[in-house]
Amino acid sequence: MCGIIGFVGKKSASPILLEGLRRLEYRGYDSAGVALLHEGSLLVRKKKGKINDGLARLLKSEPVKGSLGIGHTRWATHGAPSDKNSHPHLDQSGKISVVHNGVIENYDSIKQKLLNNGHVFKSDTDTEILAHLIGEYYEKRRTKNGWGEHPREPKASDGSGLSGASPHQTNGNGENPLTLAVCDALREVIGTYGLAVICAEQPNTIVTARRGSPLIIGIGNGENFIASDANAIVAHTKKVVYLNDYDVATITPERFDVLNLGTDTANVQISKLEFDAEDAQRGKHAHFMLKEIYEQPQTIANAVRGRLDFEGATARFGGLNMSIAELRGIERIVIAASGTSWHAALVGEYLIEELAQIPVEVEFAHEFCYRHAPLERDTVLLVLSQSGETADTLAALREAKRRGHRTLAIVNVVGSTIARESDGGIYMHAGPEVAVASTKAFTCTLLCTALLALNLGRVRDLSAADGKRLIAALGRIPDQIRQVLAERERIRQVAVKYMQRSSAFFIGRTHAYPVALEGAQKLKEISYRHAEAYQTSELKHGPLALISPDVPTVAIVPNDELLDRNIGALHEIAARSGPLYVVTHPGVQVPDGAAAVIVVPKNEPELDPILLTIPLQLLAYHASVALGHDVDKPRNLAKSVTVE
Ligand code: BG6
Repeated sequence: MCGIIGFVGKKSASPILLEGLRRLEYRGYDSAGVALLHEGSLLVRKKKGKINDGLARLLKSEPVKGSLGIGHTRWATHGAPSDKNSHPHLDQSGKISVVHNGVIENYDSIKQKLLNNGHVFKSDTDTEILAHLIGEYYEKRRTKNGWGEHPREPKASDGSGLSGASPHQTNGNGENPLTLAVCDALREVIGTYGLAVICAEQPNTIVTARRGSPLIIGIGNGENFIASDANAIVAHTKKVVYLNDYDVATITPERFDVLNLGTDTANVQISKLEFDAEDAQRGKHAHFMLKEIYEQPQTIANAVRGRLDFEGATARFGGLNMSIAELRGIERIVIAASGTSWHAALVGEYLIEELAQIPVEVEFAHEFCYRHAPLERDTVLLVLSQSGETADTLAALREAKRRGHRTLAIVNVVGSTIARESDGGIYMHAGPEVAVASTKAFTCTLLCTALLALNLGRVRDLSAADGKRLIAALGRIPDQIRQVLAERERIRQVAVKYMQRSSAFFIGRTHAYPVALEGAQKLKEISYRHAEAYQTSELKHGPLALISPDVPTVAIVPNDELLDRNIGALHEIAARSGPLYVVTHPGVQVPDGAAAVIVVPKNEPELDPILLTIPLQLLAYHASVALGHDVDKPRNLAKSVTVE
């Protein structure tokens, strides 16, 4: 996925776009670029690589003026990272500039048609095709002999004073030819897009549109913004409009008009952002990932706040939109998610089955749509997603809705597409998570899933005593996390000394297996070391063959009913000289010769995965720092992927 931003107003656009792109860079960092309009000419600056190494330096040496502009930071899909494939892209006339987040699936056939019309392309991207297509339609519209039917006149949508002076350049019917041209082009396009378009002949206008990729309008005072997410513009305004699929908006300094290509009227309203610009800043920490690891005592407390019903010994939520009878009627739950959220789903499976006795299946979101599994009528789909924009997870949600199933979501980003399209859900309240490798959102997902399991259990047979036990345990988590964080220096030494081998194993059983998966994922994501996670008991059925002095094993060994079995497995590894690093609870005797033992405070089995994960986050963090990698923006990854 990419990040796009746009500004129209009176101020100099360049610094606003650059700062916004920096805040969007976790969405993709293969290249970045801006296009500004100044005195009738379009000025484009774009460069391969991360903003600090590329675009920022270019803008310093070749600054650009103008109070209208668009910008882009790229996660490459079509065309390798390079200067020529960087956005913005221009149309054939050079008058129209486009930035785009998404994938145009039928770009090849459109390209062929345009090549036959004499177009010449400079890049390998699908987006340049779109720019040329819009340019072709614009020429037609501009000369009023438009192609095909005219789209409907945009209906007043925001009440932000559609009357009064309109700076739009319009044709004879009062319609803006750029808006019309974008609509024409999008009717021909198959694929996903969040895009912004400016034109040298339209000094006060940005046209923007979305289908599948997130896009918001930021409403200022005599200025307006567009962005892929709120992080990029929260420093300027907290008044935002979340666009829906097929919305096309025409934005000027004073107003915005939204039409919808699919329906008669666009259904948008103004929302208020819940967080501040500082929340998305690194502060004193060397990296966002470290800041977010250290925020966990607070984010866990935020996720619990206001959700505990001490009298009922249960958890309650404001947004599930289900009555007690409906909650009681749930027969089965399918949890769909991707990446780190999928690991959280595996813990959720244990919690909901144990506390609520509801059968649970966990699906990779990207497989759910294509598995055609038979689902009972009262099966609920629960999706987990930090960003609320991951295309695979969104597709699973839409598939379940299409099949008539109720959908619930546990999401961090307020107003995200998954949050708005699910029937009900739970916000994590973890605040903006900027580092690509998810940490606080993972532990908050575990927490929210535990609260949901408690709620579902208490409308079934879970006793009040058990409810009280869990509620008391929840209260202990923030301080226990602080105790683990206090072990950071020791964990750093283990990471620096041992975690730089070319390969590592992570092992755990039952609730600890997803923790092992997450530990391996973190190490892979940011240290680029191969790491695999196994159910501890599975080792002897194959992977044990790989155990050698060169392959460290990180063993998650909670003090639970499987302790003896786990210790047995550690002995099998030690017997084959496999270096052992054990994450365990107080009082657990691990085999002599273990290279390192990291002890975390014990909580209730249902909540132990939260605490057992923290040392693995720090292990990966310090291994990555020791290897000199860009911890927050690991190669080839993006914060959430909005293309399937
Ligand atoms: C990937 C991110 O793109 O998406 C992972 O790099 C993340 O960190 C995964 O876990 C799923 O994202 P989300 O937002 O749906 O939880």
